[in-house]
Amino acid sequence: MTQSTNEIQQAAALISRARYVVALAGAGLSAGSGIPTYRGAGGLWTQRGTPPLLSYQEFALDPAAWWRKRLAAEVDPSHPVYQMKQAVDRAAPNAGHLALAELERRGILRCVITQNVDNLQTAAGSRAVLEIHGNRNRLRCLQCGLRFHRGDFEAQLSAHPELAEGAGLANRPPLCGECGGVLKLDTVMFGEPIPPDTLQACREAAERCDCMLLVGTSGTVNPAARMPLVAQERGATLIEVNPEPTSLTPWCDVVLTGPADDILPRLLNRL
Ligand code: APR
Repeated sequence: MTQSTNEIQQAAALISRARYVVALAGAGLSAGSGIPTYRGAGGLWTQRGTPPLLSYQEFALDPAAWWRKRLAAEVDPSHPVYQMKQAVDRAAPNAGHLALAELERRGILRCVITQNVDNLQTAAGSRAVLEIHGNRNRLRCLQCGLRFHRGDFEAQLSAHPELAEGAGLANRPPLCGECGGVLKLDTVMFGEPIPPDTLQACREAAERCDCMLLVGTSGTVNPAARMPLVAQERGATLIEVNPEPTSLTPWCDVVLTGPADDILPRLLNRL
């Protein structure tokens, strides 16, 4: 069922009246780009069950072992990590990402807080993107916080094969060239604190906004899931874009039922 024009018109009216519109994006926004969601109909975890959410504890216990396991999984076609990596490597921004980038270009949307690590919102042309769960294309030093493109690290690996043994690394994790700290993927693992600079920027956006678009999120993972309520407590209106109801639906002023890559372009055409 796609959304009736009346609700799209209502949403457009709320956005037009607002001064500071922010979007909170989830995995559903990238579903139209062929990347599976975790929850909801057809989600990876809906089908296979939620994995043990201990990834950060496992990493902290033995980073070198984590890296060896991760790099081996990324080259194993039977592994879910490989399958997700393939889907994200192949993905391109869809009409939903492009509509959000156009809303920013027109000065209507101030920023996108995205829970997605796929880099697609930036690839769509958005400049104000707050990646609350990080970005799969980057590495981050746990000691000094330096972030850099993963490609540079892989180039370093190929320049120094002694660092790599088969699909794994020698007995130490990749280390920061600046401070010698341990490097990890710049994607936030379950149990890992969100980098304070990112969290602060997301909180400020949620507190400043007077209209928040909730696009393709199940609203189940904090602190991202709290952002709409932080906004609403300060008088913001909430507009949800999702084919299914979520835990956030009851709080929303307008609910647009349907896929983001159909709804968002239709909303853009009304603005
Ligand atoms: N358009 C819009 N929404 C969609 C679409 C679509 N085409 N397809 C599915 N959805 C909705 C689903 O109904 C569901 O509500 O997207 C939502 C996806 O929910 P999740 O998979 O839980 O994704 P998200 O809310 O981003 O999860 C938050 O949990 O697993 C962790 O770190 C991961 O960032 C992720 C976080």
